[in-house]
Amino acid sequence: MPGELDLDIFFADYWQQRPLYIPQFLPNCDKLIEAEELAGLACEEEIESRLVFSDENWRLQHGPFQESDFLQLPARGWSLLVQSVNHQVPEIHALYDYFRFLPQWRFDDIMASYTPGGGCSGPHFDYYDVFILQATGQREWQLGEHCGPHSTLRHDCDLCLLENFSATETYILQPGDLLYIPQQLAHWGKGDAESLSYSIGFRSPSDAELLAVISDHIGNELGEHQRLQENGPQPTTANGAIDAATLAQLRTRLHTLIDDCDLNTVFGEYVSSLAHPEGLPELDDDLKINDRIELQALLDDLQTQQQPLLKDESARLLYLAESDGNTRLFCNGQRCEPTVTAALAQLLCDHHAVSPSQLQPFLLDSGAVELLIWLLNHGIFYWHE
Ligand code: SIN
Ligand code: CO
Repeated sequence: MPGELDLDIFFADYWQQRPLYIPQFLPNCDKLIEAEELAGLACEEEIESRLVFSDENWRLQHGPFQESDFLQLPARGWSLLVQSVNHQVPEIHALYDYFRFLPQWRFDDIMASYTPGGGCSGPHFDYYDVFILQATGQREWQLGEHCGPHSTLRHDCDLCLLENFSATETYILQPGDLLYIPQQLAHWGKGDAESLSYSIGFRSPSDAELLAVISDHIGNELGEHQRLQENGPQPTTANGAIDAATLAQLRTRLHTLIDDCDLNTVFGEYVSSLAHPEGLPELDDDLKINDRIELQALLDDLQTQQQPLLKDESARLLYLAESDGNTRLFCNGQRCEPTVTAALAQLLCDHHAVSPSQLQPFLLDSGAVELLIWLLNHGIFYWHE
């Protein structure tokens, strides 16, 4: 990580605990996208975008927008927030490389936030950790107290804003500065003049989300015949009562269902799933690779051109070690068959770019060849022609 941040200190003292301001973390990140391009992205159907008007009512409008919407905007007093700009602009996705010290399954996306001036986010807190990188202009960030279910929210506006906010720290971010804001810390960003910033967000799945996913998975595997029996059979003398023995049996039954559940698969599929699956690329049929010979020819070509294979910016490719020593790959919410070697999983998942020579040793294995062909034909990896 640039900015001379010691990662041991970061994890011991800051991560999910305290904010951290790093001046000049990444100078020269001002040219990655123009405001007009960002507005163009906000007009696309599959891209999540919002306009926040920092007037009294903190009005919120959801995209997709029309070009004419932008022509009617006032000169000041609004922000345009566009999610997952890293999926659209590889140079913005490359910002994630500075945060590879955090597990990829936590990485959510990079949001861009633009204001022509006078745009504010309003005082709020989020349930995810965020690194804010100032790209152009400057923005003032006020940080407040640790929030949670006890915090009172305003009910008179479209945004989830805090009823009370008092700043305990203030930072003025200049281009290239980075501010880490831990989840649940109150914050308020104000851009008086024109500015653009990126929010590199890391998710924390809630217990409720996880339990819902796990119970869906278990429920889908269960048959109609699997049912709770009354504790017995024996005659009851108090037929109006729900007896403790039945409840104890219920508890044991639920524990068994969770113990028997393949949590590896449920969690792997969940954290590798895409927020917007419809945004995945479609590969032309004539580009599809049919066998090992065609794969080898492609890699030889790329080798000559010194071009790597690149992972699609929106793809989520993760792996985990199974208890039997095999390594399981998860791709965009699906468990891949069959298992792969740990070395191949690491090569494909831990990096954005993979060189043909790094893949060469794996081509002797038919399972690996099959997987690589599948990844290429599904647009998970691509190459520049
Ligand atoms: C913004 O950049 O305007 C909002 C980001 C945030 O506060 O989470
Ligand atoms: Co926020």
